Amino acid sequence: MKRAEEAIRRALGSKWERMPVRALSETDSTNLRLKEWYRAGQIAPPYLLTADSQTAGRGRLGRRFVSPPGTGLYMSLLAAPSPDTDCGLITILAAVAVCRAVEEASGLRPKIKWVNDLFVRGKKVCGILAEGLGGPVIIGIGVNLRTPPVGFPPEAGPAGALDADVDASALAGRIARYILDGLEKPDDPAILDAYRKRMPLTGQTVRYTQNGQEKTARVTGVAPDGGLMIEDETGPRTLRTGEVTLGSGAFEGLL
Ligand code: BTN
Repeated sequence: MKRAEEAIRRALGSKWERMPVRALSETDSTNLRLKEWYRAGQIAPPYLLTADSQTAGRGRLGRRFVSPPGTGLYMSLLAAPSPDTDCGLITILAAVAVCRAVEEASGLRPKIKWVNDLFVRGKKVCGILAEGLGGPVIIGIGVNLRTPPVGFPPEAGPAGALDADVDASALAGRIARYILDGLEKPDDPAILDAYRKRMPLTGQTVRYTQNGQEKTARVTGVAPDGGLMIEDETGPRTLRTGEVTLGSGAFEGLL
């Protein structure tokens, strides 16, 4: 995987090209690998790991992330944000970084479903799983580049692929570069602006689950810390974790 590592390094640009990069053909989960290597003292941030496939890819909320060979980009970045960086903003920053890199590589315009699912043509093409290690963070990103021959399993929800001619290694390097650059100025209002521009849920009615109860609310915007501002008959509030679905359940058209 030396060629992949070189391609990643080129895309990282002069500022980051000397950081450690490793490209594997297969692993269990790139997030899990980095966590174990970091805890064993084998690596330090910044560190980038990619894999062509994962046997135990993990998603948010304990879900599986299907990662078959030759169809996607699976990457994890170990980074060290400054201690006062808001966790919510790291996720926002990662979603914007992936959007920008995909836009430049493919001409597609992904939309973001709060908090950090990326949609193209009404289908989810990318998921992000950020995990804190008590200081450093692991930002895991899975991008479906092509639809697997057997399709996506039903549990993956409305999954799709970019289906564009995109080089996985160059994309990985570009995404990592944008995240690392962004982490140097996480409070830059341009990041939230870029997120809000791509997040079309504002003004929509969404469903979400709280304490096991399904609720409905109208989205009023994205808070400065990345939370989703909503309003229902009990008044305004901000969601900081979890997941929302559109009132109609359909993403086509909006996302
Ligand atoms: C989600 O959609 O719920 C988040 C999916 C995150 C998947 C990526 S693929 C690379 C990294 N390694 C993992 O095991 N998960 C993340």
